[in-house]
Amino acid sequence: MHHSNHRIGFKSKFGAIAALAGSAVGLGNIWKFPYVASTNGGGAFLLVYLFFTFAIGLPVMLAEFSIGRRAQQNILGTFRLLAPGTKWFLFGFLSIITASLILSFYGTVSGWTLEYIWLSMTDSLHGQSAEDFQTIFSSFISHPYKAVLWHIAFMVITGAIIMGGVQKGIERYSKWMMPILFIIIIALSINSLTLNESSKGLKFLFFPKFSELTGQGILAALGQSFFSLSIGMGILLTYASYIPKNNNLTHISLQVIIADTLVAILAGVAILPAVFSFHIDPQAGPSLVFLTLPQIFQELPAGQLWAVLFFILLTFAALTSAISLLEVPVSYLIEEKKLKRPWATLIATLLITFIGCFNTLSFGPLRDAQIFGMNLFDACDYLCSNILLPFGGVLVCIFAGWYLQKSTLYQEISNQESLKIRFFKLYVFILKYIAPVCILLILFHALGLI
Ligand code: PFF
Repeated sequence: MHHSNHRIGFKSKFGAIAALAGSAVGLGNIWKFPYVASTNGGGAFLLVYLFFTFAIGLPVMLAEFSIGRRAQQNILGTFRLLAPGTKWFLFGFLSIITASLILSFYGTVSGWTLEYIWLSMTDSLHGQSAEDFQTIFSSFISHPYKAVLWHIAFMVITGAIIMGGVQKGIERYSKWMMPILFIIIIALSINSLTLNESSKGLKFLFFPKFSELTGQGILAALGQSFFSLSIGMGILLTYASYIPKNNNLTHISLQVIIADTLVAILAGVAILPAVFSFHIDPQAGPSLVFLTLPQIFQELPAGQLWAVLFFILLTFAALTSAISLLEVPVSYLIEEKKLKRPWATLIATLLITFIGCFNTLSFGPLRDAQIFGMNLFDACDYLCSNILLPFGGVLVCIFAGWYLQKSTLYQEISNQESLKIRFFKLYVFILKYIAPVCILLILFHALGLI
């Protein structure tokens, strides 16, 4: 098989893991997980989430890794190379569209995090009441252009990193942002545990209330798990095409999944005890992070420092995920359209930012533009997380489990048979039957088809 040898991949194993974990750990873990879990039965959600993550997420991730590293191409080239003369390349296009769409609403919340770094640095979050925080937040997100400006600023930073390329951009920045992120989230969690009503929050997060878990909640757990792991749409596939050939893909996928799950749980531990200690409704939804945490910070000694640290953490998490999303269309433009990286980055960033501004404005001037009773942002999120990602997950299973030859898969996972792979049969069985059937059942059920 022909490989393009001039292609630059990750320099080191640590760099590869930092980049992959960087993609997985994001707003999904810190901003989304705590409120999705808290509105869907707390511990019961957590159990289902863990099951999906390890039983389905892990095999699908490993499949994406194997396909990506095998082909060492952008997503479109990957399917052209591995499935020539078939319609599989359409899946490549779908991935490019999904990644761009996710980034378009991801940039919205990422822009908010920048505003909150600014607010906490200028100490504007100090000495405010709960209502003040509510006002600060809602007037900011509905402002006619402030949120758009921060959104654009975030996309400029994302584009600037991607312009640096795989080693000098993605790897270089992930390598220091990810360790810092870990240190901050651990410090925040420890801090949160010292609050007086922290046990209530922990109980809420870990105690399973099955009566509150609905069919929609189960789909939300699957969608959340896929979104959080960045799987289901060939996004990790693109990153995997840069993993050095001698790295152990099984180990890497386990490490990435553990890191991702750990950060999600730590985020719950950092946020939920605080929610209870300050008597906030845990159902507060997506604004949890922007309303609750600023309140907690001002009760803490050196609260301003904590606030700045937290919002930097959130921005790092968002950035390392945003670059993985942007790399999908950019690598496509470079390799398929033969554009130079700076041009490819410029075009993709401009287009995605433009679309994204509509999402940002859907909390303000465009709030009346509703699709199925949701604003543009929520509709985009729902479409990507709950429909496109699970659907893509099924396609990955079918491609790796049914279309690809077992030997191809085995070669890639075992590094050309130099590693001993113990659970290969079980793995193929999950990939062929269990994972796609589970995903489809949940998807159809949630869509009201069964
Ligand atoms: N996994 C990221 C998060 O949890 O925030 C978001 C994400 C990145 C989703 C990349 C999908 C993706 F392809």
